[in-house]
Amino acid sequence: MNKKVLSVLSAAAAIGMAFGVTAHAAGNADKPVVWWNRQPSNSSTGELDMDALTWNEKTCYVGFDASQGAGLQGQMIVDYINAHLDTIDRNGDGIIGYVLAIGDIGHNDSIARTRGIRQALGTGVAVDGEIDPSPAETNVDGSSSVVQDGEIGGLTVRELASHEMKNPSGATWDAAAAESTIGIWTSSFGDQIDMIVSNNDGMGMAMFHAWSKEESVPTFGYDANSDAVAAIAEGYAGTISQHADVQAYLTLRVLRNALDGVEPDMGIGTEDEAGNVLSEDDFYYDEQTRSYYALNQAVTRENYEDFLDAARIYAPVSNQLSEETSPVRDIWLNLYNASDNFLSMTYQPLLQQYDDLLNLNVEYIGGDGQTESNITNRLMNPALYDAYAINMVKTENAASYLALLE
Ligand code: BGC
Ligand code: CA
Repeated sequence: MNKKVLSVLSAAAAIGMAFGVTAHAAGNADKPVVWWNRQPSNSSTGELDMDALTWNEKTCYVGFDASQGAGLQGQMIVDYINAHLDTIDRNGDGIIGYVLAIGDIGHNDSIARTRGIRQALGTGVAVDGEIDPSPAETNVDGSSSVVQDGEIGGLTVRELASHEMKNPSGATWDAAAAESTIGIWTSSFGDQIDMIVSNNDGMGMAMFHAWSKEESVPTFGYDANSDAVAAIAEGYAGTISQHADVQAYLTLRVLRNALDGVEPDMGIGTEDEAGNVLSEDDFYYDEQTRSYYALNQAVTRENYEDFLDAARIYAPVSNQLSEETSPVRDIWLNLYNASDNFLSMTYQPLLQQYDDLLNLNVEYIGGDGQTESNITNRLMNPALYDAYAINMVKTENAASYLALLE
């Protein structure tokens, strides 16, 4: 289709919309869709949105195994405590006091991490058989009902405070909010803080730079962004790699396969002509939820040197596809928040390398992290694209994207 035809078509679509007529972009509903990083789900119950996950035959989700990662993060922290029992209690009050930065109370991955940390530290309180992931807010005196005191190596473990790091306009996982919150916490009970735990590195690093680096207080994050991994040399205690190099590949590869009409597993579990293939240590696919889950790895002082470049593509899937069998196609892809640390520092640079290898011409749309319309407004002409890669602001808003493809 040439440019002129396209602009006539989009003008027609705009007129249709102006008159309240549904602009029926024939065929968009049948194009491949990948949900990535935020799995369509109910933000209060966590229940998966199967309508969105099975929108058409060529729809799936790409993320990582949140509970396996949360278990690793919890274990990493417990291992650290056990190795530093004689020094961890800075003020000698017999309590290992920690504060927790929560990313987004309505995001399954953030919830899993909060639960994993509380589970490992013995500070979780079960509600209907599952650990309550709610922020405790301030619990310096140990009286909160959402957490309880745990015990490790003869010391009490207490979640002194936890809070959802949201900015005034509603953006979550917000590093600036974490920076100001650690300021508030330390000015009132800083001497009791023995450890900082964060749902991600963006917030963890903000707190590290604002306070804990100077104070030599161990700080744990998640994502293994390059700056956080480098900070391990300067005292950042550890992070978790969610194998973004595998996820970014999968995000585009599933679209590539659907567009080429080849077996969905091609270049994933099945080696392709170019030699690309992943192993079962990297990911697994769950047929029932149509979801690909990358596996996590703990990154600590012992192994951080292998993780210093978070934006380096994964060697087993770094081979160029032939344009003969995989001709150039156009993809619309959005990031829910252009300034999200993990997505902008780690995930997008990976996508931008894989798009070349996979012969995909990707239009990257960066959202404001607050409103879905800021992004959907930039998908007014879905007919221009062959496939869509969607990163929602809120995990329950799949329908606002799908409505544009109907
Ligand atoms: C990452 C966070 C990021 C979030 C965005 C998570 O998987 O760990 O750092 O802010 O995705 O949805
Ligand atoms: Ca203490």
